[in-house]
Amino acid sequence: MDRVRIGLAGLGYWGPNLARNFAELADLAWLCDLDPELRERFAARYPQARLTGDFDELLADAALEAVVVATPVVTHHELARRALQAGKHVFVEKPPALAGAEAEELCALAEEGGRVLMPGHLLLYHPGVKKLKELVDTGVLGETLYLYGNRQNLGQIRKDENALWSLGVHDLSVILHLVGEEPTEAWARGESFLTEGVEDVVFCYLRFPSGVVAHMHLSWLDPHKMRKMTVVGRDKMAVFDDMELERKITVFDKAPEQPSGRYGEWRTRTGDIWSPKIPTDEPLRLECQHFLALVRGDGDPHAAARDGAAVVRVLEQLQQSLSAVPA
Ligand SMILES: NC(=O)c1ccc[n+]([C@@H]2O[C@H](COP(=O)([O-])OP(=O)(O)OC[C@H]3O[C@@H](n4cnc5c(N)ncnc54)[C@H](O)[C@@H]3O)[C@@H](O)[C@H]2O)c1
Repeated sequence: MDRVRIGLAGLGYWGPNLARNFAELADLAWLCDLDPELRERFAARYPQARLTGDFDELLADAALEAVVVATPVVTHHELARRALQAGKHVFVEKPPALAGAEAEELCALAEEGGRVLMPGHLLLYHPGVKKLKELVDTGVLGETLYLYGNRQNLGQIRKDENALWSLGVHDLSVILHLVGEEPTEAWARGESFLTEGVEDVVFCYLRFPSGVVAHMHLSWLDPHKMRKMTVVGRDKMAVFDDMELERKITVFDKAPEQPSGRYGEWRTRTGDIWSPKIPTDEPLRLECQHFLALVRGDGDPHAAARDGAAVVRVLEQLQQSLSAVPA
């Protein structure tokens, strides 16, 4: 089968990682960035690709099947919309839009035009998250009671995006994927210590229709480097720790129980602790392969877009809660 002909916009920090993968897996035919220095640098690296600073020039190529958008978040909705309207399949970096209504508009455009729209929620393609989902769905942990994400670091301090949108988008995509519902309650509190109006530290609380609750601690102002998701089930507990090299998932056979004959009395049971083997495949490569498979008609072309729109809706709710706190 012919390789998918792809054009990529955005050659800043993240775009080159996507370019590397798509150059190996597809026909990377166009590269687009507003910055002429970046265009020059990447022209040398990808001599087969045409370079442009004009997104419309790339869209005008009738033979171009798919567009990858790795530009700043504020541009995602506009560029993805134009690409879908030009009849292209679209991979757009996360989040696909800044408002739920905009994300839903993109979903509708993709569905009406029979095109794939896939937001780049990288963690959903992580083998560790896949294993965590399997542990939840197959009942190994028992009924899910609650889960929480930790995404902290003394790390990249952003001025144009707060910790909720920059960091929370990752954990939120995983939480919604694991729970399989949208929350009925979503609130957030945070503080801007470094840049006025840009929260460096955010705490979020979500409650779902099934009664599951979730929490996220997001910060780039923290002594710990943590990328963790903990799921507490009625029978067992599991942790996905992306900072671990080998033990990405740990399952704890720990739970409270009420021994028969001792009505009302809770005891704790602690059993084995084990780590299932997790494939070491690069999540970004798996994500790119998934997009190409969808373009080739393999899989539900609209599921990822709908999941991405749900993430934006919840981010919007959390942002409203964050902004509603009196100064
Ligand atoms: N999945 C992940 O783990 C991950 C990690 C980092 C960044 N990202 C996402 O990648 C995207 C880019 O982030 P970044 O850190 O690389 O930003 P960046 O600012 O480093 O790069 C963005 C690039 O886009 C270019 N650009 C802006 N508007 C354009 C337009 N209209 N047409 C063509 N080029 C345009 C800029 O010139 C710049 O070179 C963001 O959406 C971010 O959320 C994802």
